[in-house]
Amino acid sequence: MIGRQFQSRIVVLSGAGLSAESGLSTFRDAGGVWSRYDIRDVATPEGFLRDPSLVHTFYNARRMKLRQVKPNAAHCALAKLEDVCELAIITQNVDDLHERAGSHNVIHMHGELLSAICHNCGHRWPSPDELSADDICGRCGAQSVRPDVVWFGEIPYHLERINDLLLGADLFVSIGTSGAVSPANTFVSQAKSAGAKTIELNLESTEISDCFDDHRLGPATEIVPVWVDELMARGLHWR
Ligand code: OAD
Repeated sequence: MIGRQFQSRIVVLSGAGLSAESGLSTFRDAGGVWSRYDIRDVATPEGFLRDPSLVHTFYNARRMKLRQVKPNAAHCALAKLEDVCELAIITQNVDDLHERAGSHNVIHMHGELLSAICHNCGHRWPSPDELSADDICGRCGAQSVRPDVVWFGEIPYHLERINDLLLGADLFVSIGTSGAVSPANTFVSQAKSAGAKTIELNLESTEISDCFDDHRLGPATEIVPVWVDELMARGLHWR
């Protein structure tokens, strides 16, 4: 890419573990979001149709928490890496911490907490702090405003663009994700088949750890900055 120091194309897949040390809960760890809430109630279209107020209360609280936290050293290290190479971050996270750390090329495959969408016509706008079941879409007038997040049973966003990125990657890096959710847990195999080197950075081994060429275990705020520095010192060549 013009203006970048190195030609390598790096694709990062990030998950909730990357934002954990900023103070946002992961989903499947002990005490995680899905141990406190039933996925069917708050993260499916059926749950929303059944009880939109419950769903709004859940996402309003997550949005309020997001306003109180800051990017951590792992987000910042990835923003620094973007300055020297062609880096794309595919994130499953609905927070905006990558952007606040300074990353520009962020693809939110599971949507964004700070965006609202009309369930009826697909119109999108920046979400206010609180959404409610009484809100009305400014375009079609329907009373079916929802957080712009992808729920179980729905198709993640930007899959074509993601596929292109995986096919063109020199290095694929998975950070802070359990590999429990499809299709994100298939990206490592896609990138590898297309010729990328692959590495997993996570607090602990995951159910898809065997798919990666290399691993680093530890908290993201410790292992990501170290790995980024090492990678840059090696001229972005990884093995
Ligand atoms: P999970 O909660 O499934 O996994 C978080 C991963 O991060 C686990 O493997 C943890 O070991 C690891 N982890 C925790 N703390 C960490 C830390 N400080 N440093 C590094 N790693 C750490 O979250 P995701 O994999 O992101 O989707 O979950 C994927 C999707 O499932 C989410 O986007 C969400 C959820 O249901 C939807 O809501 C559609």
